[in-house]
Amino acid sequence: MKTPTPQQKADLIERARQARGKAYAPYSNYAVGAALLADSGNVYVGVNVENAAYPVGMCAERTALFTAVAQGERTFQAIAVVTEDGGSPCGSCRQALSEFGLDTLVWIADAQGRLRAETTVGELLLKAFGPANLGRP
Ligand code: THU
Repeated sequence: MKTPTPQQKADLIERARQARGKAYAPYSNYAVGAALLADSGNVYVGVNVENAAYPVGMCAERTALFTAVAQGERTFQAIAVVTEDGGSPCGSCRQALSEFGLDTLVWIADAQGRLRAETTVGELLLKAFGPANLGRP
């Protein structure tokens, strides 16, 4: 896995912060922005998109991840997540990200872009169920 540069780290957090402004969260009023850095160097952003039928909504992290995969990406260096208070990715997003690697860095920042936590997908999802459980490499 590639290691992001300090500049890439700052850029990724800023991309997530800017994306957060496009979140569609009229029900929770909890806007989330995510930016995912692929090994290719490309960045994919996502926001949470809520729905009047509540369970239909989608988190920012998975929006970014699924967009990246739809563009052919499979390996990722890092994801930046920006919320008002530096909230952590939910369990479903941890599981979705884990499919593509436990070493992906996770940078969690607040609305001002201040880094609140630095971790990895594997640290966030201990003893993960993954592709190996189904005989996949
Ligand atoms: N949300 C995310 O986008 N990512 C997370 O990891 C946590 C929760 C969204 C879902 C919902 O639109 C709002 O935040 C409140 O739960």
